[in-house]
Amino acid sequence: MSVLDLARPHLRGVEAYKSARSLATEGAIFLDANESPRVLSDDAALKGMNRYPAPQPPAIVREAARYYGVPAERLVVTRGADEGIDLLTRAFVEPGREEILVTPPTYGVYAIAARLHGARVCEAPLDAARGFALDPARVLSSAKSGPVKLVFVCRPNNPTGTGVPLETVEALAKELTERALVVVDEAYLEFSGASSATGLLERYPNIAVLKTLSKAWGLAGARCGFLIADPSVTALMQIVRAPYPISAAAARAVEAVFDAPGEKRMRRSVAGTLSERARLMAAFARLPCVTEVLPTEANFFIAKFADKDAALAALRRRGIIVRDRGSEPGLAGGVRITIGTAGENSKLLAGLEKL
Ligand SMILES: Cc1ncc(COP(=O)(O)O)c(C=O)c1O
Repeated sequence: MSVLDLARPHLRGVEAYKSARSLATEGAIFLDANESPRVLSDDAALKGMNRYPAPQPPAIVREAARYYGVPAERLVVTRGADEGIDLLTRAFVEPGREEILVTPPTYGVYAIAARLHGARVCEAPLDAARGFALDPARVLSSAKSGPVKLVFVCRPNNPTGTGVPLETVEALAKELTERALVVVDEAYLEFSGASSATGLLERYPNIAVLKTLSKAWGLAGARCGFLIADPSVTALMQIVRAPYPISAAAARAVEAVFDAPGEKRMRRSVAGTLSERARLMAAFARLPCVTEVLPTEANFFIAKFADKDAALAALRRRGIIVRDRGSEPGLAGGVRITIGTAGENSKLLAGLEKL
């Protein structure tokens, strides 16, 4: 059995739309895509903007293959990891009949994408009593009890910051072979230092890894991410994706930042974030209004407050916005704090010290 047998049957035999720019990139005069022959502005930043962009910008594909250490055929460039979630859901889960599995508290888009698609959501909660660890036995028994097609594993997990060992991902993929795809969301992996699940792809074609440039790479505004998977899965995603998912403006921004020299800058930025994280978490642990600070492997952490609403209101008065996570399972009183610059973090602390 191939992993493609897990895809929705109606997709078999569907051919990719042949966009003008997927058929011809070399030429002197382009009269093939009904574009305007001119840009209506002299702004140098808009040069070439009258043309459709490359559907999968080759320079970005090359850099991604280098940085993630995978062959280009295993990669799809997406409009952020969010698009990867959507593409997988649409391609693998039969609406009305099949399910995805999530491990709450976790990133909300997995469940939203499934519900928008008309699919059901099965939950295998993280173990709050064991530091929000993912319990593979619980995930497997839930995944096997229904028609679950995608199992989302977020490492480090948003919003708890918890890591998931590679052995756990491997155990899930092994047990779910020929049954479900394990979707490993590594949006925050650069902050954790853990090895990527991409190293498991050769052995487990039922793993798909989501990556993003929105976090460590500082390009959330560009909307660029990657889906890394078995070549048969990425080939299917190239059929399911929009004809031109990456705007020319986004591609330019990404190409200016996402390369080998950029990687050095990114590592320095991550190191700065980690040292600020240590300072901020230590200071939070001493704040009288804070009852608990959860350990984290990401660029955010959860702090629990004796009076969360008072803390949120005090911060809002100073224009400081953090994320209320108190309604998530196991996170009563919890607020998710993203690590900012040293100056921003100091203002955050000042806003809470008086409480
Ligand atoms: C775990 C996780 N995955 C994916 C995303 C979305 O990433 P992108 O900006 O690449 O769509 C987020 C955004 O916060 C996230 O927390």
